[in-house]
Amino acid sequence: MTTPLISNTISFVKQQLEGAEAGHDWWHIERVHKNALNILGHEKNANRTIVELGALLHDIADAKFHDGDEEKGPEIARGFLLQQKAEEEVIQATEFIIRNISFKGGKNDGIEKSIELKIVQDADRLDALGAIGIARAFNYGGFKNRIFYDPAISPTDYADAKAYHGSSAPTINHFYEKLLLLKDRMNTKTGKRLAEDRHRFLQIYLDQFFAEWEGKK
Ligand code: ADP
Ligand code: NI
Repeated sequence: MTTPLISNTISFVKQQLEGAEAGHDWWHIERVHKNALNILGHEKNANRTIVELGALLHDIADAKFHDGDEEKGPEIARGFLLQQKAEEEVIQATEFIIRNISFKGGKNDGIEKSIELKIVQDADRLDALGAIGIARAFNYGGFKNRIFYDPAISPTDYADAKAYHGSSAPTINHFYEKLLLLKDRMNTKTGKRLAEDRHRFLQIYLDQFFAEWEGKK
């Protein structure tokens, strides 16, 4: 059942993300929302409203498209939810998801996660894997004018989130620096199961990519 709060949030997000890079646009949000509802169906004790708001608002002002400003997303979400007369508890739980969802080179895993954050983070990570994950990575690389691959540039274990986001490495490196690490960082049982399938698909894709690179297939 879609409540007025959720349908108003959907309209707000669609309008806010108009013209966004294709990997972080409304369609990414819609996919994450669907993934999140799928995972939620297998989880007890999670608050549906918070999961839906977190999924819908998690990239409302992604810091990497706003000069690294980490506060902008939570601020816009709070402003919108206040307008909607959402309860303070719901606003805080949504802000918590927006603040803590990001991978940031894998250096953000120390916090105590709420079940709602676990679900939305898994839902977002799934969209970085599989066929869609590949499309998103190359689109982002193109958006940043990055090359596909350079055999001389090895993947890097970045020291912190700043170094990770400042990197201009080839897009294939991102598979090793982030995408292939995600399956072992999933929070929920359902997320893990889905991630394993999508992970296998990445491996098949990479095998084919390197064979073609060498003119072997
Ligand atoms: P973060 O990694 O900053 O937490 P996101 O979860 O928003 O960021 O990253 C989302 C997606 O953006 C990635 O799954 C990938 O598709 C794309 N992306 C981010 N950084 C890169 C990169 N360096 N190369 C290719 N794609 C990238
Ligand atoms: Ni996202």
